[in-house]
Amino acid sequence: MCGIVGYIGRRQAYPVLIKGLHRLEYRGYDSAGVALISAGGSLNVYKSQGKVSDLEDTAQNRDLTGCIGIGHTRWATHGEPGFRNAHPHLSQSGRLAIVHNGIIENYASLREMLIGQGRTFNSDTDTEVVVQLIEYIQEKDGLSFVASVQRALQMVQGAYAVAVLDMRQPDTIVAARKGSPLVVGVGDDELFLGSDASPIVEYTDRVIYLDDEDMVVLRQDAAITLMTVRGERKTPQIQQVTMDVSQLEKGGYDHFMLKEICEQPQSLRSCLQSVRQTLIGPDAERVFSLLQNANRVIITACGTSWHAGLVAKYAIERMTRVPVEVDYASEFRYRQPVINPGDVVIAVSQSGETADTLAAIGMAKEQGAGVLSVCNVIGSSIPRTSDCVIYTMAGPEIGVASTKAFTAQVAVLTMLALVWGHRKGTVGEAEYTALMQQLDTLPDKIGRIIAQKETVRKMAQTLSFAPSCLYIGRGCNYPVALEGALKLKEISYIHAEGYPAAEMKHGPIALISQEMPVVTVATESAVYDKLVSNIQEIRARQGRVMAVVTEGDTEVARMADSYVAVPQVAECLSPILNIVPLQLLSYYVACLKGCDVDQPRNLAKSVTVE
Ligand code: F6R
Repeated sequence: MCGIVGYIGRRQAYPVLIKGLHRLEYRGYDSAGVALISAGGSLNVYKSQGKVSDLEDTAQNRDLTGCIGIGHTRWATHGEPGFRNAHPHLSQSGRLAIVHNGIIENYASLREMLIGQGRTFNSDTDTEVVVQLIEYIQEKDGLSFVASVQRALQMVQGAYAVAVLDMRQPDTIVAARKGSPLVVGVGDDELFLGSDASPIVEYTDRVIYLDDEDMVVLRQDAAITLMTVRGERKTPQIQQVTMDVSQLEKGGYDHFMLKEICEQPQSLRSCLQSVRQTLIGPDAERVFSLLQNANRVIITACGTSWHAGLVAKYAIERMTRVPVEVDYASEFRYRQPVINPGDVVIAVSQSGETADTLAAIGMAKEQGAGVLSVCNVIGSSIPRTSDCVIYTMAGPEIGVASTKAFTAQVAVLTMLALVWGHRKGTVGEAEYTALMQQLDTLPDKIGRIIAQKETVRKMAQTLSFAPSCLYIGRGCNYPVALEGALKLKEISYIHAEGYPAAEMKHGPIALISQEMPVVTVATESAVYDKLVSNIQEIRARQGRVMAVVTEGDTEVARMADSYVAVPQVAECLSPILNIVPLQLLSYYVACLKGCDVDQPRNLAKSVTVE
C-alpha cells in the first residue's frame, strides 16, 4: 500500500530513488513520483500515472540533479489513481513536498479548516491536507520546519509513514511513522528511507526500524535525530539486516511469481532448517512457555496467510488436541471476540505489516492473550509487537500473489503442531520421528512437481477459456482448494471459488456444466474414497475435472479430464505439495490470458491500510 523512499547524502538522489521505487513497486503501481532539491535550491517534482517506468519516461531530459529527495509509488486510497493524486504533494507556496503511505482519517475536517484559512487544494487526497497543514502552522505560528511537522502530526488521526522536504532547508528530510512502516538506512556519509529495507540493502546493511509515532530528522552530514511526535528524544537502535540483493531480482525468470514458485525447494529447506532450530533449540522455551498452558488457539490472518492458518487448524487440533479457531483479522478485530485467560493468538503474515492483522494483535494483547507471530519479513511491525516470533525464512517475496510464503507458513505451523504434540505426549515417538523425517523430504518432492511444469501448462489451456471455475478438496486440503481459487482469481481475473468437496451437493453442484471446470485436490487421504464419489457426481453432470493426484493413482486419474501427480506424503503434510501445481496452474492461465502476473490490477502486496 504505497511505497516511500528517501535519500540524503553526497550522491545524486534520483537514481537511488528510482531504483528504490522499482523495489517497492510491489506495494502499489497506480502512480509514481519524486521530489528533488537541486544544488541551486529549487524543488523539482516529477510524477506520472502508472508505473515507475512511466515516471522515468516523464522525467527524461528534466533537471534531475540534487543530493536530497523523496519518492513514492502509489496504491490509491483517497482519490482516483490519476496524475492529479500522484505523490509527492506540494504545499500552497510550493516550498514543501510530502510523500505518504497510510490514511489520514480526520482529513475532511482538517481540509475544511484549511480551506477556511484560504488554502486551495490541487488533489483529492488525504495526503495534501498534511503538507498544507504543516505550511499553515509554519506561517501562522512561526515554527521551524521540524517543529511544524511535529505539530501537524499531533493533529492528524489515522495511519501514516511520511517524508517531507522544505526547499528552504535543503539539508534536511523529516520523516515519521504511525501504523505504516518506515525504515532508515544508515550509510557512512549518507542516509536512506524506505517503506522496508529492500531499497536500502544495496547501499548499507545498517538500519533503524522506526516505532509507531517516531519522528526522525535526517541531515546531509548523515546526522540523525530521533524523537517521538510528542518531542521526546530517543536513542536510535541500529540493527544489521541481511538480505541478498540477488533475491530482489528476477534472476532470469519472466516473472517474480514463477521464480518464487520454482525456488520453493530452497525456500522450504531454509525455512525447515530455521524453524527446527527455533522449536528444538535453545529458543524453544520462549515459544512453548507461551503455548504449554494454552486452552485454545486463535489464529488470525488475512488472505493467503489465513488459508495457511486454516491448514494449521487441522494439524494443531489433531496433534495437540487443543481447540483452534481461525479468524480473518479484519473480522476478529471488530466482532468483540471472547478472549479468555489461557488463549494464545497466532498471527500469520508474510509482510508483517498487514494493518488488520496488526490491529488484531493489539486488541488480543490488550485483552490479555499471549501472541506468537509467524512472519516472513524480519524486523517488520507484526513480529515487533508480538510476544514471540517464528520467522518463515522464505526470503523476500515480491510477486503480489503469495506462493513460497504459503508453503513456508504451512511448514512452520505444522512443525509447531508436531513438536508441541510430541512435548505434550499427544503425538507418539514413532509418528513424531516419521513426520519429522518426511518434512525434510518435502523440498525435493516440490522439485519433482516443478519438473512437471509442462503438464500443468497444458492443463492451463482449458482453464484460460473458462469464465468461472470451482476448486474442491477435503480435510486439510480444503484450504488448499481455497488458496488455489484465490491464486486464479487474483492474477487471471477468472472467477473461482473453493469448496469442501462434500458441500457441492448442498448448492454449488447446480453450477456444474461444460463451461465450469472443477479443479480437484484428490491426493491420498482418509477421505479419498468419499472424494472419489464427489468426483463421480460431477462427472455424472458432464462436469470437466482437472485433478491433483498422488503418484501411482489410477482411479481419479482415469476419471479426470487431465491431472498432475504429486509424490506420496503423509496427509497432514500434503497441503505443502498440493498447492504447488495450483500455483503453477494459475500462473500459466494468467500468462495465457496476457495478464500482468506480478502486478495484478487493483492489488498491492502489503496491505497497510484497513
Ligand atoms: C494473496 C496474498 C494476500 C496476502 C494477504 C495477507 O496472494 O498475497 O491475500 O496473503 O494480503 O498478507 P500478509 O501475509 O503479508 O499479512
